[in-house]
Amino acid sequence: MAFVDPGSTQDLGRGVAAAFGRTFGAVPQVVGRAPGRVNLIGEHTDYNAGLCLPLALPHATYAAVARRDDDRVRIASSQEDATWEGALGALGPGDVEGWATYVAGVLWALREAGHDVPGLDVLVDGRVPLGAGLSSSAALECSVAVAVAEVLGLSLDDDLRHDLVTACMRAETEVAGAPTGGMDQTVALLAHEGSALLIDFDAHTTAAVDLGLPAAGLVLLVTDTRVSHALVDGGYAARRADCETAAGALGVDSLRHATLDAVGGLEDERIRRRARHVVTEIERVSATVAALAVGDWQEVGGLFLDSHVSMRDDFDISCPELDTAVATAVEAGAVGARMTGGGFGGSSIALVPEERVEAVARAIDTAFVASGFGPPAHLLAEPSAAAGVLPVD
Ligand code: GLA
Repeated sequence: MAFVDPGSTQDLGRGVAAAFGRTFGAVPQVVGRAPGRVNLIGEHTDYNAGLCLPLALPHATYAAVARRDDDRVRIASSQEDATWEGALGALGPGDVEGWATYVAGVLWALREAGHDVPGLDVLVDGRVPLGAGLSSSAALECSVAVAVAEVLGLSLDDDLRHDLVTACMRAETEVAGAPTGGMDQTVALLAHEGSALLIDFDAHTTAAVDLGLPAAGLVLLVTDTRVSHALVDGGYAARRADCETAAGALGVDSLRHATLDAVGGLEDERIRRRARHVVTEIERVSATVAALAVGDWQEVGGLFLDSHVSMRDDFDISCPELDTAVATAVEAGAVGARMTGGGFGGSSIALVPEERVEAVARAIDTAFVASGFGPPAHLLAEPSAAAGVLPVD
């Protein structure tokens, strides 16, 4: 069974520095690295001022960066043929198209925040599967952000990390035009190795939640259904709009402050289901944190399943491939499973006894063939560290 390999940080860092040399004929000043993420539980809660519990993946994006002595910016990727080139003053909304927008957007947002960003050459490469709901876009933004901060001589302390979260969110929502909620950038910049990150979008706090997976003999199996998922498409924005409609009808500023009772009284059936997902999902995050504190993994597994049903039936963001991955994982021995991320495709996450992981992955492969779906890809989600910079040697 082949799981998607995160590769060695050192080798990938050297690789991206070498690719920078081949593309730009110079040595980069710094390499930034930022992880993809998978969410344990708490979906579509971030933009409702709710709770979520993501963790950083070992799979990361790497950005090699060097200062130029003019006001030009060049953006290249080992995964793309064309290099984007433009002026430092034209990196904002509407100025750039395609994947380079995420990089340009970060430079724009850092300038907007008052940083004296110079002309730069940037080359990126990554191991976060693209379009899999594992936040390759946030990994791209955050790898560039930490590298540019280093070029500017800033120290990557907690305050700066929070500022970079804001800049990367602005890049994504205002420049790339994906109306996302901030979970991905927050975990990429603030995660702790071995832990998940409890994010409270109302109190604006984060806390590391120790998982203790190895001691429990469990692993997190992520299955990329390879069903395409794009947050700039309409489904995500439509869900967000439904949540705002629900909050408006209930007279609260966000669904974080709505009760299940009040939600039950919403007239519109669709709006009621959307709000019910959000309110119950926020409760499930709290329940998961409580169950983790006492090592009650059966309870966590049950909460995963409830979360999946809520996303499938109330929020309408699952698809046959995700439902199959989740049902098959449980039949083959997972303690629990659910779709994860924005939905409409992307990935599932399953909590699996270590000794069952190959059997579960194989069972999903077989079920996909039997259903006529294309082959999925699997990876192991070991809770990993937040974004940082690597020395260039
Ligand atoms: C995407 C968005 C996040 C979050 C999730 C759903 O990953 O980028 O902000 O809303 O979907 O939980």
